[in-house]
Amino acid sequence: MCGITGAVGLKDISNVLFEGITNLEYRGYDSCGVALMNRTGIIIKKNVGGVKDVYQKENVLRHSTKLGIAHTRWATHGQVTRDNTHPFVSCDKSFAVIHNGIISNHSELKAGLQREGHQFVSATDTEVIPHLLEKFYRKTSDVEASFMETLKLLEGTFALAFITRHEPDQIYCAKRESPLLLGIGDEVKFIGSDFNAFIDQTKNAVIIDDEEYAILSRNGYTVKNFVTREEVDKPITRIEWDSETSKKGGYPHYMLKEIYEQPQTVINAMEVEEKSIDRLVGLIQKSKSAHLVGVGTTYYVTLYANYIFSSLAGQYLPAISSDEFVSLSPVDKHSFVLAVSQSGETYDTLSALKHARSRGAKTGAIVNVMGSSMARLVDCPILQGSGPEICVISTKAALAQMILLTRTALKLGLKNNHLSRKGYNEHIRSLKSLPEIIEGVLNERSGFIHRIAHSHRNVKNWLYLGRGVYYPVALESALKMKEVAYVHAEGMPCGFLKHGTLAMIDSDIYSIVFIPPNSEKVLYEGTLASVSEIRARSGYVLGIHFDERTRDKNLFSEELILPPVAPVIAPLIQMVIAQLFAYFTATSLKRNVDKPRSLAKSVTVG
Ligand code: F6R
Repeated sequence: MCGITGAVGLKDISNVLFEGITNLEYRGYDSCGVALMNRTGIIIKKNVGGVKDVYQKENVLRHSTKLGIAHTRWATHGQVTRDNTHPFVSCDKSFAVIHNGIISNHSELKAGLQREGHQFVSATDTEVIPHLLEKFYRKTSDVEASFMETLKLLEGTFALAFITRHEPDQIYCAKRESPLLLGIGDEVKFIGSDFNAFIDQTKNAVIIDDEEYAILSRNGYTVKNFVTREEVDKPITRIEWDSETSKKGGYPHYMLKEIYEQPQTVINAMEVEEKSIDRLVGLIQKSKSAHLVGVGTTYYVTLYANYIFSSLAGQYLPAISSDEFVSLSPVDKHSFVLAVSQSGETYDTLSALKHARSRGAKTGAIVNVMGSSMARLVDCPILQGSGPEICVISTKAALAQMILLTRTALKLGLKNNHLSRKGYNEHIRSLKSLPEIIEGVLNERSGFIHRIAHSHRNVKNWLYLGRGVYYPVALESALKMKEVAYVHAEGMPCGFLKHGTLAMIDSDIYSIVFIPPNSEKVLYEGTLASVSEIRARSGYVLGIHFDERTRDKNLFSEELILPPVAPVIAPLIQMVIAQLFAYFTATSLKRNVDKPRSLAKSVTVG
């Protein structure tokens, strides 16, 4: 939800600021703006559109500068208009502010400021901040003191930064709940919502914690706590990702690149140290109740894990969507809550974890972003090591999370005596065979998937069906279709058909059915029975299955036959197929694949 960055240097920083905000565009791309300091004061350039578009329209790179801040927006308060685009300035234009988060008491603050004569131009929550800074500066003539007075009044969440012509060599920034980092280069100092803001310039970062603020100049930086006002000694964190892995590498879209990276993602997930898995297993075993939380795709990942823990470990770990967690889960100090999150910054999941911690529960998280809020909040963070996932749609990160959760379930199964050592070893061998199988499937089946996707691009409604562990795969696959192709797709357990949905089935309804290997006899037969129910009503079925021999020749309308594999990896391969199907549908419909409308990569608001 919005990306913020800023840079202050010895030389012109306009190009590095542009690179930084471009790298953050996946966080929001409704509109973009910059505030640049020059000899005469602050120049504001902003407009609706993506970063490159706005830079071109506003001719931003014409202005050289040694200090500036930039923002890319995902609208929460106020429509996507130029007036609602950050940065916002005070009445006297001496302060320019960018912000990610939500100021929850902005209406009261705005009313008070308007009574005092401040003029507002936007419908945003952020605009109160430059006016408050101006108001307090009039009283104190001290920028830092004015900042402290302003922060005292702000309720809600923020990563915010401002520049001011009263101190033209400094960038001020502060954080509560929304992510904020500093990048410490030799000649340039940066701020950013995440590492991508400065990864091309420096690998040295300082992670700002809640209730901290920082002042940066070209020569250095200070971090203080805005409650105690004391200086905080912050360690430098080395960023392990390199900027090359964040680039498209010849693929037309990040989504396709990330789908094709999955063999490596699985290898990385299999290489996550065994002792991390053992720690998770220990926490599950010690708890009286363990819960899984995630939201969107990561909720489906936890639902998948819910099935896997039942079958492989004989233990029921309920999966709860993070946004519903507070209403649903009775956690206490005997509970363990394991969150799953690519970004490690998702507001709903962070809130669930905070709620669990406030009740004394132990917490863990599987996250992809090192140094993220979640990685720092929980008792047991596990870094999944998938590398940067730039496409707004999650693909490889979700698969890696499923692998790590499967490893955890297998280890728990072993400890619980639910699995024999032999059974455990066999499953691990199957997981290790997955990269090669995915690679083969991607290389050999993508032409077929492309053809089916293209010929069905005008289908308006898809049903995605699966039984057992294939049900969360159906849900996740339907979400992929909705979010990247904007095509309605509904994920459903096969068993639901005859309890209502069959009434809808006719030749206009298209279904994709995830069929288990026939070694899973009960699931397999149950799934085929559902296919027959649809076919008997003239419904179209694309069957994704592993078995050619035992089926009725006319069962499916079309079919994708995969090589025979072990049940523990079968649903994961089908999920990869469905990612590619959604991708090709989206490209056939000319969608904005990496940045679908109305979405953002990291949802840091509730
Ligand atoms: C869908 C997608 C979202 C995220 C969700 C949680 O492709 O990416 O549904 O899964 O917003 O995000 P993280 O994993 O960052 O907590």
